[in-house]
Amino acid sequence: MTKDRVLIFDTTLRDGEQSPGATMTHEEKLEIAELLDEMGVDIIEAGFPIASEGDFRAVSEISQRSASATICGLARANYKDIDRCWEAVKSARSPRIHTFIGTSPLHRAIPNLDMDQMAERIHDTVTHARNLCDNVQWSPMDATRTETDYLCRVVEIAIKAGATTINIPDTVGYTAPRESADLIRMLLNRVPGADSIVFATHCHNDLGMATANALAAVEGGARQIECTINGLGERAGNTALEEVVMALKVRGDIMPYATGIDTTKIMNISRRVATVSGFPVQFNKAIVGKNAFAHESGIHQDGMLKNAETFEIMRPTDIGLADTSLVMGKHSGRAALRAKLKELGFELADNQLNDVFVRFKDLADRKKEVYDDDLIALVRQNDAVADYLRLKDLRVVCGTRGPQTAELVLEIDGVDKSVTAKGDGPVDATFNAVKALFKHKARLQLYQVNAVTEGTDAQATVSVRLEEGGHIATGQSADTDTVVASAKAYINALNRLIVRRERSAPGEDIKGVSYKDVD
Ligand code: KIV
Ligand code: ZN
Repeated sequence: MTKDRVLIFDTTLRDGEQSPGATMTHEEKLEIAELLDEMGVDIIEAGFPIASEGDFRAVSEISQRSASATICGLARANYKDIDRCWEAVKSARSPRIHTFIGTSPLHRAIPNLDMDQMAERIHDTVTHARNLCDNVQWSPMDATRTETDYLCRVVEIAIKAGATTINIPDTVGYTAPRESADLIRMLLNRVPGADSIVFATHCHNDLGMATANALAAVEGGARQIECTINGLGERAGNTALEEVVMALKVRGDIMPYATGIDTTKIMNISRRVATVSGFPVQFNKAIVGKNAFAHESGIHQDGMLKNAETFEIMRPTDIGLADTSLVMGKHSGRAALRAKLKELGFELADNQLNDVFVRFKDLADRKKEVYDDDLIALVRQNDAVADYLRLKDLRVVCGTRGPQTAELVLEIDGVDKSVTAKGDGPVDATFNAVKALFKHKARLQLYQVNAVTEGTDAQATVSVRLEEGGHIATGQSADTDTVVASAKAYINALNRLIVRRERSAPGEDIKGVSYKDVD
């Protein structure tokens, strides 16, 4: 059976990043775009260029760096948005403009356009986009709640004006699989010229049906799926890339559609997106959840030992999970560490490897077994950014009745400073101590703790996201002591803010207005 090709359009950096709290830094966006490109995503929606200077810069730089994927930017239905979008994507090897307008009765009321006025706007804006770029995607936002006749009319107008892809968004996650398939089928049957363009499906997960709806739309004739890594996105999120891709791979017998995705890269990018967005993956999430391949019950383990297919419909290695998770002990050497990290997808320069090796030895001294996840956490600790601030010592006194007390020694620009601070819990006391020694105005946007592995000696990975004057920095750290990991992550985020601030205002005294250490 020959397989029809389904294009994978990833919108992690636009719809995913739009999710409140999921903001990524510029460097993080570039890194995610590179991973998406390497994984074989066909189209990367890199951002919404008119939304902010930061979005514009990210879309432009991703466009310049793109190796194989088409790079797309989002624009509302007006010339200014479309022009800005084109400015940002035009340097891509293969650029695309994606323009949209809400076509359902509720959405038409917002710009206060009647049906005819909106139809004219669609004609004019798609024509304008097409005059700039020969790859134009148009979306009738809230398509699944738009009157059928009107939807056919506007889709026809967009095709005649030059749209090459028509995306049918289920903006509020309202549709159901059969309806999703029927809608695309109906458009293909009724709209003149529909067979000359690609139909895309863009589903939200409010009723938990985003993956099913996207796959049903493909059955109905859609040949582009819009999705995000880990299903990141506003409210309940978007269709998860890993779910549709693996569903098509595993059930190719009943869904004969091929994608260009190298599925062995899924796990790495999933972890990366979880880390940089600060949105952890739920343990029982399909494909990339921590428990997705865990077989704990006796019956399952017995069956698995005899034949893995008893309970597994796909292999962990299909998504890039190493076969075995128990890796190394304290006698393992540098070469073994390098080889293991390579297997996990990390190629480190010598100095980086030395740094990780020191931390690995330290961890192996404190922890009986060092697992893959422990190593990944060690590599991801980004405390090599800038060492303006360094944790020298931390002692926390906890009691059942607070407040807790933190005694902190912090090296600030090479000089040790110490303080004792109180707080509502050990982490609060520690952060107060950091603030007392290094005064700053950064606001805490996110504080998140996860246990890397099982057991009471498990490492905790902590993410701290800070915002100051529009700059955002995320610091991460891992340690068997949660409070130490928290302190390091916080200090790491501050170091990153300092670097960021230095880059945007070179030469400005970092001990000046916002950053001030105590004498
Ligand atoms: O959900 C939606 O309708 C969108 C559009 C901008 C395509 O994200
Ligand atoms: Zn959306």
